[in-house]
Amino acid sequence: MNLSQKVYGVTFQNPTVLASGIMGITASSWRFCVENGAGGITTKSLWLTEHMGHPNPTIISTEHWSLNAVGLPDAGVEKAVQEVGDYLKNKPAPLIGNVVAGSIEDFGKTAEHIAKLKPDFLEVNISCPNVEDEFGKPFACSAPDAAAVTKHIKQVSGDIPVFIKLSPNVNNIGAIALACAEQGADGFTAINTVGPGMAIDLRSRMPILANKVGGLSGPAIKPIAVKCIADVYAATEGKLPIIGTGGVYTGEDALELMLAGATLIGIGTAVGDRGIDVFKKVCDEMQYWCTNEGVEHVSDMVGAMHKELASRS
Ligand code: DHB
Repeated sequence: MNLSQKVYGVTFQNPTVLASGIMGITASSWRFCVENGAGGITTKSLWLTEHMGHPNPTIISTEHWSLNAVGLPDAGVEKAVQEVGDYLKNKPAPLIGNVVAGSIEDFGKTAEHIAKLKPDFLEVNISCPNVEDEFGKPFACSAPDAAAVTKHIKQVSGDIPVFIKLSPNVNNIGAIALACAEQGADGFTAINTVGPGMAIDLRSRMPILANKVGGLSGPAIKPIAVKCIADVYAATEGKLPIIGTGGVYTGEDALELMLAGATLIGIGTAVGDRGIDVFKKVCDEMQYWCTNEGVEHVSDMVGAMHKELASRS
C-alpha cells in the first residue's frame, strides 16, 4: 500500500502535514515532526515585522474541542528567513511557508521574502478568526478581498505554488475558492478554525480566554471540514489540490477528508492529544484500513465521494 502523494512535482512520503501554528517555530521542531512521521510541514504564520501575540490564557481545551486565540505571535520575516533557510538547506520533507498580514500590500511583501527562500509551497492565511478587531473581517470572508490577496501574491511568488487557506465561517466557501482560482490560486487549505467561539468561567463570570474569543478546532469540527472540502472540490471541479485540515485524529478521519477531495492532510490539535507521533499513528491507521479494503494507492481515495455520487445519479 502506497501512501506517497505528488503535488506540483513535490513528493510527500505520506499525506500528513503539520498544520500551521502547531510546533512550527524552529527548523529543529520541524525536523522533529518529520522524524515522527510527518510527510510535510507548515510553518507558523509569518508576519513581515515582529508581532506580539495575545496575553494568556490563550487556549482552552476539552476532549471534544479546543478554543485558541494565541494571536499569531511572530518574530518577523528576518527570523523566519533564518529558520526556513536552515530547514531548507537539508530538508527531510517538503516545507509549506505560511504567511499572514493585515493588508494586501504586506501580504505581498511577506510572500515575496518567503518565496525567495524557495519553500515547496506558500500557504496564505487570510482566514484567522481572531483578527477582526485589529484588521476588520478576515479577507477569506469576502470573495473580492480573497481574490485581491491571491492576485497580489501571485505577482510576487514566482514559480512557488500558492495555496489559499480558507475560512469555514462563510455562506459559500465554494464561491470564495472559485474567485481565488480565477486569480491563479494553485490550491487551497481548508479549513481554518471555526467561529470564533467563547467559553465562560462560571465563578468569575468572565470569558476564559484573555482575547474573550478564539478559533474552534479539534474533533468537533471534522464534519464542517469535510463539507467545506467537498464544496471547494466541487466548485473547482477537482482541478486544484486541497490540503484538508480540521479535526483529524485518526487514519479514518484522514481518509474521510480525502474522499471529500483532500490530497494532503493537515494535523494540528491532535498533536497535543495523541502526541507528536500522531503522524506515524495516522499513517499506520490509513495503511491498515486501505490494505484491508484493497485500496492500492491512497490517491485513489481523493475525491472518490464525488465520483461515487455521480455514478449513482
Ligand atoms: C489563531 C490563528 C488562526 O489562524 C486560527 O485559526 C486561530 C487562532 C491565533 O493565533 O490566534
